[in-house]
Amino acid sequence: MGETAVQAIIKEERPDAPLRTETFRRARPDIAGPDAPELPFPIVLSGTVQHGFGRGGKDLGCPTANLPDESITPMSSVTRTGVYYGYAQISPEKNGQTILPEKDRNVMPMVMSLGWNPFYKNERLTAEIHLMHDFDTDFYGHHMKALVLGYIRPELDYTSREGLIEDIETDKRVALKSLARPAYEKFKSDSVFDTT
Ligand SMILES: Cc1cc2nc3c(=O)[nH]c(=O)nc-3n(C[C@H](O)[C@H](O)[C@H](O)COP(=O)(O)O)c2cc1C
Repeated sequence: MGETAVQAIIKEERPDAPLRTETFRRARPDIAGPDAPELPFPIVLSGTVQHGFGRGGKDLGCPTANLPDESITPMSSVTRTGVYYGYAQISPEKNGQTILPEKDRNVMPMVMSLGWNPFYKNERLTAEIHLMHDFDTDFYGHHMKALVLGYIRPELDYTSREGLIEDIETDKRVALKSLARPAYEKFKSDSVFDTT
């Protein structure tokens, strides 16, 4: 398969991700990034939600919305794979019809994995967004907008699924705490989102 724009810039050619260790787990800070977003953040991503392999929801209890390759290009400015946090919003419309329930239309906190998913040995660099909200329906084919505001940790390889699940749970807690700071929270009502 051909190289995507981000792959061309993120010159980590499917690196050997470091193995997650017990020391890493214990040393994880519960807040990530400076008190206010610093350049290149905020980064705006937008695109139509695609099907991934579907393991996120089933295997990991963490459903993710995948963005198409061309939508990941703005992430080339960060040049590193790993876990990011920010806000995202799903458009209520699909094929010209408004079908997303009212309660699923807000701007939600999110965690995003940008990487090769070494645990699953993927062949392509992907951007998967987990929105921290209990959706009534899936939203494949809907337009999604995301504002990436900070970086949490590098992508790791795991010897067990449980280790990955535990780190994703920690990522969510770190993201929520990091976003609760005023300089981050204000992006929830940013003009890229539809807040009418
Ligand atoms: C917050 C978050 C952090 C993740 N961190 C890693 C990681 O460190 N290593 C890894 O191999 N995969 C990581 N993943 C990716 C999962 O392996 C991925 O969601 C899984 O491959 C499911 O993808 P699928 O829905 O396309 O099947 C992470 C996913 C999320 C949402």
